Amino acid sequence: MRGKYVTETGKANDAGMARAAATLRDGGLVAVPTETVYGLAARADSEEAVARIYAAKGRPGFNPLIVHLASPQAAERHADFNRTAQRLAQAWWPGPLTMVLPRKPGAGLAPAVSAGLPTVALRVPAHRVMRGLLALCDFPLAAPSANRSGFISPTRAEHVLASLDGRIDLVLDAGPCQAGLESTIVAVRADGSWQELRPGPIGLADLAAAAGEGDRGEAGGGIEAPGQLASHYAPGKPVRLGCETAAADEYMIGFGAVAGDISLSETGDLGEAAARLYACLHAAARSGKPRIAVAPVPARGIGLAINDRLRRAAA
Ligand code: TXA
Ligand code: MG
Repeated sequence: MRGKYVTETGKANDAGMARAAATLRDGGLVAVPTETVYGLAARADSEEAVARIYAAKGRPGFNPLIVHLASPQAAERHADFNRTAQRLAQAWWPGPLTMVLPRKPGAGLAPAVSAGLPTVALRVPAHRVMRGLLALCDFPLAAPSANRSGFISPTRAEHVLASLDGRIDLVLDAGPCQAGLESTIVAVRADGSWQELRPGPIGLADLAAAAGEGDRGEAGGGIEAPGQLASHYAPGKPVRLGCETAAADEYMIGFGAVAGDISLSETGDLGEAAARLYACLHAAARSGKPRIAVAPVPARGIGLAINDRLRRAAA
């Protein structure tokens, strides 16, 4: 059994990826960059390997994991895709879309990835390194964000180490993640209706355009993301939102014209703010100041997902 881990950091070159694939094959834990955030990967067909993810993160057993696959065809082995799901997959895979779908029995996934639910969350990621790794593995990869449960998500290898050093086998370092916020999660029901469970890089209008005739179901229609707890992404200090100025004991995260100790985006660019959000929260967590203030961020486009994460960081 794996007891103590010595966490190594490797470059995401051919040698590093081969090593990561071998570690995963043996049931180990590898942090891997994706286009959204760094994920903590383990083979999704092994109950033991999946149990190690929950243990390393301190994640409650009721919070299921996203299974990452190399292609939509590979995804279809594990869940029922109706027309709505097929359209969404066609429009957004590979990419930052996760679909919660009825799970196919006997498809070889460890039961723990679904945490007892009849559904499974699937994603075909776009990042070069995660795709390269999936190509080397003849099994799917379960991967939550690579942080201790409840804390700030990682968009750089050093964020992973800040939270999981000594608890996992390997971190593949490929620099900062491009989107910076976790994938948009959509539940697609058997009747073709769908519901956004977590706002993310793909906005509602784009989902609706791709879903075609599938109705948007009522919110709270029986499916929810158990991990979307009020308090999440927590920097471990009080966070105040919508601030134009900071108090003397606050570390200020600015945006646009509102300056700070650090800025999400000095030019007020929401895409840049999304990419930098977790790095700014990590910097605020590390700072000497006991509290954090955050400038207002407009609630449009990706700003909706930024505000969702900020509310949970402040809760
Ligand atoms: O961008 C992302 O999605 C990243 C990268 C690594 O892929 N992953 C990620 O995983 O954010 P995690 O574990 O931090 O968030 C997964 C969310 C949780 O809120 C969980 O409750 C929800 O997905 N989820 C997973 N399976 C589900 C299911 N069967 N039904 C409803 N929600 C589910
Ligand atoms: Mg997470």
